[in-house]
Amino acid sequence: MYCVREVTEDLYWIGGNDRRLALFENVHPIPRGVSYNSYLLLDEKTVLFDTVDWSICRQFLENIKGVLGDRDLDYMVINHMEPDHAACIEEIVIRYPNVKIICTEKAFLFMHQFGFQIEDKVEQVKEGDTMSFGKHNVVFVSAPMVHWPEAMVTYDTTNGVLFSADAFGSFGALDGKLFNDEVNFDRDWIDDARRYYTNIVGKYGPHVQALLKKAGTIDIKIICPLHGPVWRNDFGYLLDKYDKWSSYTPEEKGVMIVYGTMYGNTEAAANELATRLVKKGITNVVMYDVSKTHVSYLISETFKYSHVVLASVTYNLKIYPPMLDYIMDMKALNLQKRTFAIIENGSWAPQSGKLMRELLEEMKDMTILDNEISINSSMKESDEDLMESIADSIIESMK
Ligand code: FEO
Repeated sequence: MYCVREVTEDLYWIGGNDRRLALFENVHPIPRGVSYNSYLLLDEKTVLFDTVDWSICRQFLENIKGVLGDRDLDYMVINHMEPDHAACIEEIVIRYPNVKIICTEKAFLFMHQFGFQIEDKVEQVKEGDTMSFGKHNVVFVSAPMVHWPEAMVTYDTTNGVLFSADAFGSFGALDGKLFNDEVNFDRDWIDDARRYYTNIVGKYGPHVQALLKKAGTIDIKIICPLHGPVWRNDFGYLLDKYDKWSSYTPEEKGVMIVYGTMYGNTEAAANELATRLVKKGITNVVMYDVSKTHVSYLISETFKYSHVVLASVTYNLKIYPPMLDYIMDMKALNLQKRTFAIIENGSWAPQSGKLMRELLEEMKDMTILDNEISINSSMKESDEDLMESIADSIIESMK
């Protein structure tokens, strides 16, 4: 049984959803599942845009057959070679032996690396190359590091459809609703879209900025990403989010307090700071237990907020391990332009504050407030003045 959606009168979404996979890339939790989007154009030639993950290959093959009917498949455009989209290339070649694969030189190399037998099938394209499939003309635009080096996007100049590869994608399975205007994106999808972008593509902000610049020069009518909803209006909303994320600009002035606590004493200090901030009028405050919150959520929230408070217990004379993991992930993803405050705790040789400061200083454009507090085991009344000064300096830096 095939299950597809019409995107335009001759373009079909023929992807599928995986709601059973627990961890995307075997790292990031996806409680709402994920969609793998693929598209099929019926022109004088038939053209497939990307394949899907192996987990949904059977549904995908049924979808292709259902839409193609008796027609053969003429072309397969591969915008991105990561296996969550490219796993079924060989399966397509086996079933449609006349198909020609269109991809970049690097994608061709990756096909070899992944062991695909596609020798005489490939037509390599590069930035600016064009192709006609009948009524539809497309131009290929390279998009290196969005999110792998071989990536490109394909723009249909006939109807303004942009096949955007990983760009503008999101975690989350599609519950029959394909288009952005069939869902409440800002309520139900934005957190997963941010978590997808920041953790998967976040490191490559300058490359995304370059792609956004190119996108600004074309008249986009529909955006067809490889994950999540298809966009057919409200592009300003999406482009604004992408511009902020890729330039490491906070979405909101607010304070994210991340605490690493063993017995609740560091958490109590974090609560104390949060309460002081709110009493002083800063209500956009969120708190996360670093041990209980998957780092992908922490990263996503860190891209959202302007200010971050790191409160960590000292552990083996080092930073508490889950806190260290979070900071190292932040560093790996090239996060920039945030303001930090530091709270350390330790019962005999507190070290975490100094070590966290050193790591943050190695990152780009981070402001670390001078006021910090070192707690001995638990917060006392004698610590209150320092805590008050941290709250004040955070508020001052928000002006
Ligand atoms: Fe969804 Fe970079 O693959």
